[in-house]
Amino acid sequence: MKFFLDTAIVDEVAEMVDTGLVDGVTTNPSLIAKTGADMRDTIAAMCALVDGPVSAEVTATEAQGMFDEGVHLRTIAENVCVKVPLTLEGLRATHMLSQAGHPVNVTLCFSSNQALLAAKAGASFVSPFIGRLDDIGLNGLDLISDIRQVYDNYPELETEILAASIRNVVHMRELALIGADVATLPAKVMKDMVKHPLTSSGLEGFLADWKATGQQIL
Ligand code: G3P
Repeated sequence: MKFFLDTAIVDEVAEMVDTGLVDGVTTNPSLIAKTGADMRDTIAAMCALVDGPVSAEVTATEAQGMFDEGVHLRTIAENVCVKVPLTLEGLRATHMLSQAGHPVNVTLCFSSNQALLAAKAGASFVSPFIGRLDDIGLNGLDLISDIRQVYDNYPELETEILAASIRNVVHMRELALIGADVATLPAKVMKDMVKHPLTSSGLEGFLADWKATGQQIL
């Protein structure tokens, strides 16, 4: 599974890249707005920190405008991935951009029908939002399972499932069991994945016993 950080805060990415766990970054207009920073500067900084795809979302709503914005965003860095919404115009733009050689992440996916269309349009990634489905009493993980089954039925489809709107470590555990290709997660969730009380208590015990020996390794 590839791990992308879901953030527009450059420092969050800078803090985690040296773990070797960060394969890419996803942003969206709301994440950018929250930082108050310039979008182009943010995307450029992210692209310099990671080798993998950095998703930058268009804000036009018609296909030609999405295409034009996407091509412009791609001039920021070679690892920019154009993010477009899963609308009919977004699918048109996905087809145009992918035909022109630009990678596309189709976002705001909430059904397996939508995900199938995104794949047929040529998306590199489709982003099903699992947390937002949970928020309305549905099961976002079921959507990932459905999309996994649909995509596996048709090996010619090359689109990767990029699970998004991830809220906790249970989401991450289940996504790995289902077989999502990518998870884009907040830095806090990545850090939470590391934690286990038995690891902490076990390390405390090791260090206390070692200290009692009076020895030092260096
Ligand atoms: O990448 C999409 C993600 O940022 C949406 O998360 O928590 O706003 O549903 P959330």
